[in-house]
Amino acid sequence: MKLLLIGGGGREHALAWKLSQSPRVKKLFAAPGNAGIAQVAECRPVGAEDLPGLLALAKEIKPDLTVVGPDNPLAMGVVDLFEKQGLRAFGPSASAARFEASKIFSKQFMQRHGIPTARFGNFSSSAEAKKFAASLDACVVKADGLALGKGVIICRSPAESAAAITQMMEQKLFGAAGERVIVEEFMQGEEASIHALLDGKSYRLFPSSQDNKRVGDNDAGPNTGGMGTISPVPQVSAAIMQAAEGKILKPFLRGCAAEGIEYRGLLYPGLMLTADGPKVLEFNARFGDPETQVLMMRLESDLLDALEAVVDRRLVGAALRFKRDAAVCVVMASGGYPGDYAKGKPIRGLDDAAKLDGVQVFHAGTKRSGDAIVTSGGRVLGVTALGRDLKAARERAYEAVARIQFDGAHYRRDIGLRALKVLECTPGWAEAAV
Ligand code: AMP
Ligand code: GLY
Repeated sequence: MKLLLIGGGGREHALAWKLSQSPRVKKLFAAPGNAGIAQVAECRPVGAEDLPGLLALAKEIKPDLTVVGPDNPLAMGVVDLFEKQGLRAFGPSASAARFEASKIFSKQFMQRHGIPTARFGNFSSSAEAKKFAASLDACVVKADGLALGKGVIICRSPAESAAAITQMMEQKLFGAAGERVIVEEFMQGEEASIHALLDGKSYRLFPSSQDNKRVGDNDAGPNTGGMGTISPVPQVSAAIMQAAEGKILKPFLRGCAAEGIEYRGLLYPGLMLTADGPKVLEFNARFGDPETQVLMMRLESDLLDALEAVVDRRLVGAALRFKRDAAVCVVMASGGYPGDYAKGKPIRGLDDAAKLDGVQVFHAGTKRSGDAIVTSGGRVLGVTALGRDLKAARERAYEAVARIQFDGAHYRRDIGLRALKVLECTPGWAEAAV
């Protein structure tokens, strides 16, 4: 089979790496790809949001299946466009991708179908939003639209929430994405990511994973796209996974059926594990980045089989198998990220790091420049390792990180550390985690 993969980040390198292991994949193209993806695919210089360019490329290479990585092309309707031309594509339609593209749509859907989430109000008037925020002690103000993961402000007092609402709605800090906002109650707890393949009727779960979104150790500093992940998450017991299935995934599918929405693709609910059980922070309509890096390392069965089963609506007969090993991904970022950063810094030590057993270095913001591989984005690499347990995976990942250098590189030193402390206090959780 011939495949086209849309995107060029760490998530797409992990997908490309896994897809290229499928015996049925004869040729893999990526648009635009990156220097790591180029090791397993032919990269074409077409941007992930250039829909006419992507369609022209697909007409040229005639892929048997197109796999869409990022959220923006999904929200722009790339799957609808491809299907109209008779091209098979993995990912939700634009209408189904609204679960990620509009937080208000998503929250109202959860309310209609009894899916547990934080209490909220939605507003197109800043005065009304401020009044509601003042009635909550601590709250979270969220821009309705897509804002590169930045449109969420946590507020500890009415003064902070009023300032956040002014920034979003009056000063238009996030542009049109902030014209309407959600104000919701602040939830306390551990965060975890659930990934499920949905074919409109049934679902198949990946193991639990957890991202670390703040730039600094101990969750200091501003939010990023994600600085590192672990899988499994010790706090996600079988009982929590069951609750997530019964209270979130099944009502989600039933709600979609009742409202005539066919959700085919990957659904990634971000969860808060509260004292009252798991609650949905947000729905994402695509694989997480860098969650995909750890999930692909643990996936034993063929990814292409699973994605095709989704596209062809026959997930009910498909099985996903995973390794028992744990996986840890540490993101190495450019100096200054998540603020401004320089590009074009040569990266050294990639081959040395890759020699370590159980290690894969997934590229995110990289490109080839002559003989060298250089930085070309904020998140540069996702250094990922498997190990018999979280401790072993973590040690390997950091051993690999120590072998890689580029000017200004920074990374968190505590990926997986909180989970290890939890395991020390409650041995036995390691076996229970899913
Ligand atoms: P979102 O894009 O909605 O997932 O929000 C980004 C991040 O903000 C989440 O990963 C949480 O860390 C935090 N957050 C969002 N909503 C809440 C909430 N209701 N309570 C506590 N933290 C939240
Ligand atoms: N891991 C964060 C995201 O993919 O949105």
